[in-house]
Amino acid sequence: MYMIFKFFFSFFLAFPILLVNAQQDDKIENLISQLTIEEKISMCHAQSKFSSAGVPRLGIPEIWMSDGPHGIRPEINWDDWGYANWTNDYVTAFPALTCLAATFNPDLSMKYGTSIGEEARYRKKDVLLGPGVNIYRTPLNGRNFEYMGEDPYLASVLVVPYIKGVQKNGVAACVKHYALNNQEHWRGHINVEVSDRALHEIYLPAFKAAVKEGSAWAIMGSYNKFRGQHCCHNDLLLNKILKKSWGFDGVVISDWGGVHNTNEAIFNGLDIEMGTPSDKNQSKRYPYQNNFLGKPFLDKIIGNEVKESILDDKVRRILRLMLRTSLKQNKPFGSINNKQHYETAYKIASEGIVLLKNTDNFLPIDKTKRITIAVIGENAEKSMSIGGGSSELKPDKEISPLLGIQKEFRNAVIKYAKGYSSDATVNSDKLRKEALSIVKDADVVLFIGGLNKNRHQDSEASDRDSYQLPYNQPELIKEISKNNKNIAVILVSGNAVETRWKTDVKSILQSWYLGSEAGNAIASILSGEVNPSGKLPFSFPMNLNDNGAHYFGKLSYPGDGVSQYYKEDILVGYRWHDTKKIVPSFSFGHGLSYTSFELLKSSSDKNEYLINETIRVNCTVKNTGKLEGKEVVQVYAGKVNSKINRAKKELKGFKKVFIKSNQSEKIKIEIPVNNLAFYNEKDSDWEIEKGEYIIYIGNASDNIWEEISITII
Ligand code: GLC
Repeated sequence: MYMIFKFFFSFFLAFPILLVNAQQDDKIENLISQLTIEEKISMCHAQSKFSSAGVPRLGIPEIWMSDGPHGIRPEINWDDWGYANWTNDYVTAFPALTCLAATFNPDLSMKYGTSIGEEARYRKKDVLLGPGVNIYRTPLNGRNFEYMGEDPYLASVLVVPYIKGVQKNGVAACVKHYALNNQEHWRGHINVEVSDRALHEIYLPAFKAAVKEGSAWAIMGSYNKFRGQHCCHNDLLLNKILKKSWGFDGVVISDWGGVHNTNEAIFNGLDIEMGTPSDKNQSKRYPYQNNFLGKPFLDKIIGNEVKESILDDKVRRILRLMLRTSLKQNKPFGSINNKQHYETAYKIASEGIVLLKNTDNFLPIDKTKRITIAVIGENAEKSMSIGGGSSELKPDKEISPLLGIQKEFRNAVIKYAKGYSSDATVNSDKLRKEALSIVKDADVVLFIGGLNKNRHQDSEASDRDSYQLPYNQPELIKEISKNNKNIAVILVSGNAVETRWKTDVKSILQSWYLGSEAGNAIASILSGEVNPSGKLPFSFPMNLNDNGAHYFGKLSYPGDGVSQYYKEDILVGYRWHDTKKIVPSFSFGHGLSYTSFELLKSSSDKNEYLINETIRVNCTVKNTGKLEGKEVVQVYAGKVNSKINRAKKELKGFKKVFIKSNQSEKIKIEIPVNNLAFYNEKDSDWEIEKGEYIIYIGNASDNIWEEISITII
């Protein structure tokens, strides 16, 4: 009786959604029946740099797309990469997604998606080309700043609320770059060879979560190849895994210029071709008609080489996207550059900054004191919202670190010297001397350096050519520290850097590309207005070759110009450091606070679990310091005596918790036993190893408070 009731109750709940979908499907079929073949073809490729065609005679709208993951890109010209220089496309610059990842805070991810979705809607964009969730495999990847770090579980948890936040505005999130786009070097053609296990356990989970939990309405194919096929038309990735296995009902959009073959584009799961150059000689009126999914596709349909049903499936998905976005009834109006969005940007920025080192509690700096602060470094004033490639922005406001510090420390005398320059033509010796001249008498030195959005730094289309801090920053830091020991370094970057210089300084903050509120967030952390709670979403190897992707030489990274082989396999990031016992400079999950926390007690609800059960880890954490603050309790799991090669431990749960001084909080973290599975390549399916596992509870991958043994039976 109960089961019958449960069935009818769940059907009753689902009925409205089923009804809407049925009505949508009817609308879609009705429209398809009215469209000519030429009209259907025109919907499957670009009509301009950032739009695909609608069908004016039927009132079917165009689809307008815009970068990027951290804010809405300035308007681009109709048919070239130049900026249109509009005056109404100034936006909020939100922190880069590495910063969002460092917050370990899904609630902030929802706020992020909601705010950026409101700005996209206001700018009348139907598809936001973001977020990016490619895994951080090497510190040299120019685009790591756009992504969510080295751990698939962290990225999987944070990508879902971002997507839901965007899409509730009637804007599609277009999750990218699917898949294995883990470097920019040779990005347009490099063929990635990686095992099924690493593909499914490391590189796909965030995309799978985006589709199955986030219900993403669009996915962007990546430029590179996988097992010999370009990912924008890759049968295994798009047809077999994305659409068939995961049940993706949205639209696959190519990366710009990522399509290379008509037959593959037709049959291997691509729906909209973007970025293939136009050809005005062929047609002034329809310059994109000769795209791979244009006339070549049309000719094959007319010539009965390709069934019209193949075309209809693409159009069905495109119309579904329209009904979710441009054709959606009662969609919100959106909003832009408002108080809420700046508050969201500030919250994410200040919660994402990571305190890496803080000797003698050097930070925070008492802002009531009349001290002299020497600020050194080009990144103290350099805008980081421009540059870096397609994610660049035209912010309506961008508070520089220097301005933020000047506003926050009104009682102090603030002196500034650039110290170094990214411009090779500038006299670096003069800059160095100016810097040394102001540090001598300062009470505090704040060195604001790191990387920037120039080519071969943190930028699209090129990887870094060195793991070192550029522009001789380490040497300058060392010289400064000889003149003044009271130095804190603030790294503005989106990637790990070599940190041998860390012994020369008292404190280090990892500050990301923070956007509009950058200076306010950095200053709030420096003054203690905000107690830092960020955690590293990726490891800082001591040396580049301590990183798994570089350990195996050029064939692993960057490849031989044709292919590259992910020889570290599943051991990416901390998985590599833990398992190979290679100590990093700073570990995944590391981040200090101005207070201190300790684990009072922890337990699992049982000792033995069946496969479909959930492990409930209960722990009590105490704030043993004088200041209130937030801690990220992290739970890792590792198989004891596994029959296969596995990482020592993997992140399977985390929770960020606010605790007042001298108070403690009870935390429960749930781990479905199914999440302990490994991908069995022989069976092409997930498998759970029975036997003993260790549950590691801590506040960093290299700071484990407690280990609990459990058994899967
Ligand atoms: C770029 C990027 C992609 C971006 C697209 C449009 O090449 O790879 O992330 O969304 O083209 O600018």
